[in-house]
Amino acid sequence: MKIGTALSNGSTKALLLGSGELGKELVISLQRYGIEVIAVDRYADAPAQQVAHRSHVIDMTDGEAVKKLIALEQPDFIIPEIEAIATEALTEIENEGGCTVVPNARAIQLTMNREGIRTLVAEKLKLPTSAYAFAGSFEELELAVGKNIGYPCFVKPTMSSSGKGQSRVKSPEQLKAAWDYARSSGRVDTGKVIIEASIDFDFEITLLTVRALNEQGAVRTYFCEPIGHVQEQGDYRESWQPQAMSPAAIESAREIAEKVTDEIGGLGVFGVELFVKGEKVWFSEVSPRPHDTGMVTMVTQKQNEFELHARAILGLPVDTSLIREGASAVILGKFNGRDLVYEGLADALAVPDSEVRIFAKPESFVNRRMGVALANAKSIEEARKRAVKAASLVVINPAG
Ligand SMILES: Nc1ncnc2c1ncn2[C@@H]1O[C@H](COP(=O)(O)OP(=O)(O)OP(=O)(O)O)[C@@H](O)[C@H]1O
Ligand SMILES: [Mg+2]
Repeated sequence: MKIGTALSNGSTKALLLGSGELGKELVISLQRYGIEVIAVDRYADAPAQQVAHRSHVIDMTDGEAVKKLIALEQPDFIIPEIEAIATEALTEIENEGGCTVVPNARAIQLTMNREGIRTLVAEKLKLPTSAYAFAGSFEELELAVGKNIGYPCFVKPTMSSSGKGQSRVKSPEQLKAAWDYARSSGRVDTGKVIIEASIDFDFEITLLTVRALNEQGAVRTYFCEPIGHVQEQGDYRESWQPQAMSPAAIESAREIAEKVTDEIGGLGVFGVELFVKGEKVWFSEVSPRPHDTGMVTMVTQKQNEFELHARAILGLPVDTSLIREGASAVILGKFNGRDLVYEGLADALAVPDSEVRIFAKPESFVNRRMGVALANAKSIEEARKRAVKAASLVVINPAG
């Protein structure tokens, strides 16, 4: 492909819809290839906007606002970084031609709603998932759990991420609270929840799967080493790579990931979330973009997930090889407030083989991800200890 000089008339432009910490790393990767990058978010000074060529603040769920901005900027690539986007606008823009929605508009549409992707994977592709049902009222919810799903189960809004609105329900008395929570905390109220039987897994992984062009110019699927992770309240706390797995389990995981990503199509990185017990593997969900748990690849892989995404999108060759073992641990906000100061970096970085990334979000909330600590060691156990230690030493305080 030809890349025009950034900031000239013939520049090659990428427009990011969503400008969080994952977007920030992607902007840096794209700029290394000379791409002009425009970062969009619903608030100003979001992490990726701080490193992009320019930025815009719009409501990305407003289709007209998205179309207007795209008409103004005329990007070659539109790269959604979050799920809450007016997907119909993306479909229209894709149909008009002239630019690529990454990986494609259907992928964004399918994965923003749990109903779309779950039905496709379980019913069309017939891949293993937890037992599930959808409910549009509390009565339907009670019936589905009573008849088919049982306890314990998960109740989730069909549109939500980062665990928002999600509960693990152990008994009938907890059902009503779970219903109310799902209905009030989803990103967009679709009026529906998904109920999933709880899978009793040994561990869960993200299998970063890359669809990229090979030397002959044909699409090929590449896999990164599996990433293990720990989730609390539906959000990730620690991740590490590689997660040890039996050869049979890794084979099933790759087979599932390849079938799902083949069905979705397009070029780029996909985060395929899977549950593993012994040799059995279940599909959970997929992000058609780099994954938060994949931040660990910044210290483990030759090309991290952002570099892989940038290369795949641009039609360039990729290399998913692991260089060394490593782990990540999140740095969370402990209070709500603005004008923050970060302290303890010197202590954190005194932890052997550690690194820290501060996202510089203008505002902290309790449990908002504000940064991440990364570490390498000879064993995963030691790498995890180092990452957690380094993360714990970064202290965020109000200024003054
Ligand atoms: N059916 C299930 N069985 C067992 N554990 C589950 C199930 N569903 C969810 N979980 C647990 O809750 C976590 C979050 O669930 P899920 O990935 O569906 O939520 P999410 O809101 O999309 O989160 P994120 O956006 O962070 O990926 C999973 O990683 C897993 O630890
Ligand atoms: Mg998830």
